[in-house]
Amino acid sequence: MVSAGRFIAFEGGEGTGKSTQMRLLCDALLAHGLEVIATREPGGTPGAEAIRGLLLAPPGQGWNARAEALLFAAARSDHVERLIRPALARGAWVVTDRFVDSSRAYQGGAGGLGDAAIVALHEFGSQGLRPDLTLLIEVDPASVSARLAARDGGNSDAIGGRDAAYHAQVAAGFHALAAADPAGIRPVGGNGTPDEVHQRVLAAIAPLLEQSV
Ligand code: TYD
Repeated sequence: MVSAGRFIAFEGGEGTGKSTQMRLLCDALLAHGLEVIATREPGGTPGAEAIRGLLLAPPGQGWNARAEALLFAAARSDHVERLIRPALARGAWVVTDRFVDSSRAYQGGAGGLGDAAIVALHEFGSQGLRPDLTLLIEVDPASVSARLAARDGGNSDAIGGRDAAYHAQVAAGFHALAAADPAGIRPVGGNGTPDEVHQRVLAAIAPLLEQSV
């Protein structure tokens, strides 16, 4: 039987441990014999990776909020058309570190552009593609600061380096998106050991896996 392709996105603020969780999930899916494409945003294709460089180390004075949102949407459009849709069409599981809900929480919420503008850009750029399931890794703010200090040591990028109020708005924005779409966006408690969190991730994706293997 050819398995159905599935699209999973990890979301959350900076320093939530989502990249570690993504790796653990990809290993688990590979162990089930599935074809797994691990990717990230902004990035995932040569064009989108080039845009990533422009976004995270912007030239000159940086981007205004609308230009920033357009660049994220352009990178996503290339990523969806050249990598994600073809992989899903051949039955692979695609697991991405961030997707459109990052644009909704960062640019739409914290950046002040509003959700409708980001959703409209996504409709235009990527025909509104949604993951089958989005896993929102949520941790308490104190442990985030500790993890970021250990990871970045004060060298964060143009967006990660924004102030605490911006990042608090990002976290609140993600939480509200999950509350509004319980079937599509599943909050996963990120406190605890990586393995404890991984067990929660596996429980969240179990129904999708049962349909596919
Ligand atoms: P990255 O180094 O990948 O951060 P992280 O490990 O936290 O995922 O940098 C991605 C940055 O871009 C991060 O600060 C979140 C931000 N971002 C947006 O603001 N909007 C988006 O649509 C995406 C995909 C990322």
